[in-house]
Formats: sequence, structure tokens, C-alpha cells
Amino acid sequence: MRIVGLNASPNEDGLTATMLKAVLEDAAEAGAATELVHMKQRKLKACLQCDNGWGICSKEGNCILEDDMQAVREELWRADAIVISTPVYFGEVSEVAKNFLDRVRRCEVAGPSENKMAGKLGLAIAAAGGSGGGIVSCQFVLERYFQHLGIRVFDMIPVTRFTREYKIESAKLAGKALVGAQM
Ligand SMILES: Cc1cc2nc3c(=O)[nH]c(=O)nc-3n(C[C@H](O)[C@H](O)[C@H](O)COP(=O)(O)O)c2cc1C
Repeated sequence: MRIVGLNASPNEDGLTATMLKAVLEDAAEAGAATELVHMKQRKLKACLQCDNGWGICSKEGNCILEDDMQAVREELWRADAIVISTPVYFGEVSEVAKNFLDRVRRCEVAGPSENKMAGKLGLAIAAAGGSGGGIVSCQFVLERYFQHLGIRVFDMIPVTRFTREYKIESAKLAGKALVGAQM
């Protein structure tokens, strides 16, 4: 199994990344090929809402913006399972996660070609490092991206700074379980 993890936090060693690394490391131990993408290292612009909002992507299946979005999208195409780990910002996913997922959704779902994300397994992590408020609305957004993209929800893991220790253990177990998942 090939698993690609997206870290949507600007911190490479914060709570969001730590949870993601726990999933990937234990998945690798269980035999998966894993890849970690720190999204802040990639150039990922926001959707221009071109063509009166319909998007040239709906005709061509690709985005007209020149950045790293297509390369990351193709890394996900090659994956059997996708793990998205985002910090909770204002009760939502981080800006880089939103920019990327919005554009991928348009290209895959509104575009003329087959949706290459459909059928993959998805694990979403929402890391709320402040009050812990907004974690449910963040997960709601993540679940909707998965639904639109046809990604099968394997698990959604919320974590706060108060639950960090035992949720890291959950993340490790999730990584192992993902490798053996029959869904
Ligand atoms: C702009 C911004 C908005 C935030 N909004 C929330 C929030 O709604 N709820 C919450 O519990 N924490 C909030 N936080 C705290 C982040 O969730 C916390 O910094 C994050 O989990 C830390 O992840 P990291 O260690 O991976 O950077 C916010 C932080 C920032 C920078």
C-alpha cells in the first residue's frame, strides 16, 4: 500500500505534523510505502474562480495556475490512501489545505475526466492547539472534501493540546490499521 500524507501546518514539528508522522511511521513499519508532503514547502496558490466562476478546469480538468498543485495532485493519484493533517484555524482547515483541496476538487469533480481520487482511503486529522473550539466544524469541512472527491473515510481523528498524548497513540494505531484495511 502507498500512503501519502499532507501536512497543512506551517510547522514541521508541531502537533499537526507530529500526528501525521505517527500515522506514517507506524504504517511504514506495517509495510506501507509512505511519503510526507509539507505543503508549506510547495507553491500552492488560491483558486482564481476564472471563467465567471465555472473554471477552465471544468472544461480541461487542469488548473491554469502555474505552481506545484498539479505535482502534489499527481502524488495523490499514485496513493492508495491519503492522510490530511491540518491545524484548526478559526474552526476550519488551514488556508493552504483549503487552497489545495478547493482546486483539486474542481479539477477532479467538475472536470471532464475521470475523478482519480475516487475510491482511495482517507484519514483526516484536525489539530486544535488553542481552546479546542472549532474542531468539529473543521472535521465537517474535511469530511465534505472527502465526500466530494469520492474518498472513502477510513477515520477522522480530532486532537487538542489536552489530548495530545493519547491521540498520538491513536494515530500510530490508525497507521497500522490503515495498511490492513479492507474497505
Ligand atoms: C490563525 C489561527 C487560528 C486558530 N484558530 C483556532 C481555533 O479555532 N480553535 C483552536 O482550538 N485553535 C486554534 N488555533 C490554534 C491552532 O489550532 C494551533 O496553533 C495548531 O493546532 C497548532 O498546530 P501546529 O502545532 O501543527 O502548528 C488557531 C491558530 C491560528 C494561528
